[in-house]
Amino acid sequence: MGITLKTKEEQALMRISGRLTADVLDMIGAHVRPGITTDELDRICHNYIVDEQQAIPAPLNYRGFPKSICTSVNQVVCHGIPGDKVLRDGDMVNIDITVIKNGYHGDSSRMFAVGAPPPHAEKLARITREAMWLGIQQVRPGAHLGDIGHAIQVFAEQNRYSVVREYCGHGIGRVFHEDPQVLHYGTPGTGVELQEGMIFTVEPMLNAGKRHVKLMKDGWTVVTKDRSLSAQWEHTVLVTASGYEVLTLGAAERQ
Ligand code: MF3
Ligand code: CO
Ligand code: CO
Repeated sequence: MGITLKTKEEQALMRISGRLTADVLDMIGAHVRPGITTDELDRICHNYIVDEQQAIPAPLNYRGFPKSICTSVNQVVCHGIPGDKVLRDGDMVNIDITVIKNGYHGDSSRMFAVGAPPPHAEKLARITREAMWLGIQQVRPGAHLGDIGHAIQVFAEQNRYSVVREYCGHGIGRVFHEDPQVLHYGTPGTGVELQEGMIFTVEPMLNAGKRHVKLMKDGWTVVTKDRSLSAQWEHTVLVTASGYEVLTLGAAERQ
C-alpha cells in the first residue's frame, strides 16, 4: 500500500485518537488487581470506549478477534484474548488498547503488575519500557527504521533478554496496520528513511528466555516457546520536523 504521510489535519485527528487510547490505559490501571478476570477488564474498557469516549474498540471483530482489548499475561507475548482467567498476585499483564475516533486509530500498550510480582518479572517489564523509549528516541527525519530496531535490540541483549521477531510495529492512521513494518531488531542506517508526517507504532516484545514463540490453538494467543516471561510496551509516534511526538502519552507523562 505504501507509506502515507499525514497532513497537519490528520495529525491533529491522530493526536485525539492517541489521547483517548492513553485515557483508557490510565483508567484501567486501578482495576488491575488480584481476583479480577481478563473478561472484566475487557468489559470495563469496552464500556468506557463506547459510552464515555463515543469511540470504537478496534480489536473487536478485527480479522475475527472476539474481544475489545488484548490481555497478555506472563508468558503470553501478545494478542491474549480476554476470558475467565483470574489475575493472581504476582502476575504481570500487558493491556493493549486500540481506539478508533473520527476514523483514525490510536494504539498503545503498557505492562501492569498484579499485586507484587517478583523482581525479575518487574525488571523485564522495566527494561522493555526502556527499550521502547530508546527506539522512539531515534525518530527524526533522515533517520532510518533500522536505527530504531538496532537501539532496541542492543539494549535488550545487553540485559540478556531476547527480541521477538515475528511481530513488529506498524504504520497507523485510517488503517489499523499499514506500512511500514517497524522491526524491533536491525542495523543502523538500513530500512526506510523517516520523513516528517509519518506515524507508526514502536512496540517491542522482549522475552526473559529465547526469542521463539508459538501460536496457541485459538489462533490468536502468542506464547514464548520455552514458556519464559515476556513483556511489551507500545506507543504511537509521529515524525515531526525536529524529531518525534508521542501521541499516546498518559496524563502523568503529559506534565
Ligand atoms: N493492538 C495490537 C497491535 O499493537 C494488535 C491487536 S490485533 C487484535 O498491533 F486483533 F488482536 F486485536
Ligand atoms: Co500496534
Ligand atoms: Co497495540
